[in-house]
Amino acid sequence: MKVADTGIALREILKNAPRPVVLVPTMGAFHAGHISLMHRAREIAGSHGTVVTSIFVNPIQFDRPADLANYPQPLTSDLATCEAAGVDVAFTPSATSMYFPDRSVTVTESLLSSGLCGATRAGHFDGVCTVVLKLFLLSGCDTAIFGEKDFQQLAIIRRMVRDLDAPVEIVSCATVRETDGLAMSSRNARLTPAQRADAPRIREALLESSTLETLEEILTAARSAIEASPLTRIDYLSLVDAETLQPTHSLDRPAILATAVFYDDVRLIDHVIIHRPLTHPTDA
Ligand code: PAJ
Repeated sequence: MKVADTGIALREILKNAPRPVVLVPTMGAFHAGHISLMHRAREIAGSHGTVVTSIFVNPIQFDRPADLANYPQPLTSDLATCEAAGVDVAFTPSATSMYFPDRSVTVTESLLSSGLCGATRAGHFDGVCTVVLKLFLLSGCDTAIFGEKDFQQLAIIRRMVRDLDAPVEIVSCATVRETDGLAMSSRNARLTPAQRADAPRIREALLESSTLETLEEILTAARSAIEASPLTRIDYLSLVDAETLQPTHSLDRPAILATAVFYDDVRLIDHVIIHRPLTHPTDA
């Protein structure tokens, strides 16, 4: 496995790299969710193609300085994980090599990022779009892989690719979970034992309430199941249209029940898709 720590070094390594070039953008601190993306990338690239994983804790997508400062960066073990997962090139740039001090051009997304995580994380998705577009340009990748866990991020990146004609195919991978259902996240390691034991309630609350009849019942039941724990604080709980990510007022179209929950300053997200087959009285 080759390691590039600047954009110039990455371009040099990938100049004549066998195609397809498949990119897995990450911020490191790997768990099985990230590894599933690398395996998918290896499948798509085949034995002849090139898998690139970027490991970059992107400062411009953090809205809370404490979150950035506490973000784990176990680079040595991450590189070993990449190697074991069949990655060909790891890209590990520093923030100073990625951003000019006087940088003044940013990608802005102005529709899908208005709600959910975007509502409380000012500038977050613009930071994500900007770095992801830079990673596309630096790697010249044909395909890039993203996790469905961050479904708003996935939708926004698909929209950026569509709107800016980026010549990159976006592939998504299912959320990998702990055995008790908690979505894997590098932030889980920052939970206290009591918080960690409590956290599966997020997924359970979403799943159980999603079977209820009306929108109001679903939201009320999910909220009270999450708030039944004294350890939780809901950042948001929303039912949105699966395509537009705008608040939905009907379950006739696929919807997403999504939440972000704080345990102290650790913020966890999860969602379920609600897809009700339309029932017509005349079908009987
Ligand atoms: P990061 O949080 O490191 O996640 C990297 C990729 O792993 C994302 O596509 C994310 O959706 C996916 N992922 C995280 N947890 C997962 C899980 N439990 N199951 C499956 N996939 C999972 O997302 C980012 O980094 C950044 O915003 C980035 C896109 C790299 C831009 O900086």
